[in-house]
Amino acid sequence: MTLSPTLTFNDGNQIPQLGYGVWQVEDGVAEKVVRQAFEAGFRHIDTAKIYGNEAGVGRAIASSGLSPEQIFITTKLWNADQGYESTLAAFEESMDRLGLETLDLYLIHWMQPKQDKYVDTWKALIELQKRGRVKSIGVSNFTVEGLQRLIDETGVVPAIHQIELHPYFSQRGLRDFGASKGILTQAWSPLGQGGELLEDATVAAIAAKHGATPAQVVIAWHLAIGNVVIPKSVTESRIRENYAALDVSLSADDVEAINALDRTAKGEGRIGPDPAVSDFA
Ligand SMILES: NC(=O)c1ccc[n+]([C@@H]2O[C@H](COP(=O)([O-])OP(=O)(O)OC[C@H]3O[C@@H](n4cnc5c(N)ncnc54)[C@H](OP(=O)(O)O)[C@@H]3O)[C@@H](O)[C@H]2O)c1
Repeated sequence: MTLSPTLTFNDGNQIPQLGYGVWQVEDGVAEKVVRQAFEAGFRHIDTAKIYGNEAGVGRAIASSGLSPEQIFITTKLWNADQGYESTLAAFEESMDRLGLETLDLYLIHWMQPKQDKYVDTWKALIELQKRGRVKSIGVSNFTVEGLQRLIDETGVVPAIHQIELHPYFSQRGLRDFGASKGILTQAWSPLGQGGELLEDATVAAIAAKHGATPAQVVIAWHLAIGNVVIPKSVTESRIRENYAALDVSLSADDVEAINALDRTAKGEGRIGPDPAVSDFA
């Protein structure tokens, strides 16, 4: 079985570049599909408190026969728990549900600029890392200004930034900023949530040339441009198909053709909320 390549964080730890996401997977289903993901070869799982399936992910880990050293687990701090003390408490609750002693990666789920608690929240993540409870710390759904503020006010640079990112919304600005600061970029909704993107004529033509599927070509594009990528599927054949994207090698021309699908300049492409203004509280 091909093993996912790993990328190295600015703290020296490593993350498997290809992982498996479990948003919108019910807790009762999570155990089965995460086990299927492990069997397909995935060793990196992306969950969050708000997904309501940390316990199911935990059961899959416990019954997998894999040791903590063989897997990489991410979870995320929900918006309502932002703030220093509340973050420390929410972290322990997530760990109880996951059944883990140490977490590989903890993320602030959304910046929540209106709430304006993200710097204190970041300080709690720094403390958890100092205590050895979490190996690496990062954020999700921030802006350049928010990232810069974390760095300026704490001196600690996030290891990774998880953002909406797919060929129609390729996030050049945030990727370049991250690269300039040593922050890896992780793509959420990497398949564009399985919609129009997987029917795209350019993607289909490249897929046909490689004897691959559109989803595999999109995942291979993420890997080629240096993203950490976490496609979700609850369909066993697709879980295997997505993992097998590791064997698809795109040419520089293929990557350029997919880069050209970006719709940002037209003010289009984004599927989810804009972190600069979103406020879930
Ligand atoms: N930080 C954040 O705020 C945030 C936000 C959104 C997502 N995420 C993370 O990113 C992960 C992935 O994003 P996502 O779940 O939004 O979307 P996604 O991975 O882009 O797409 C998932 C959709 O694509 C379908 N699909 C998967 N593989 C396929 C294939 N090979 N062929 C055809 N269709 C396929 C799935 O269907 P089936 O499941 O029915 O097979 C599902 O409907 C999430 O699970 C979560 O871990 C994070």
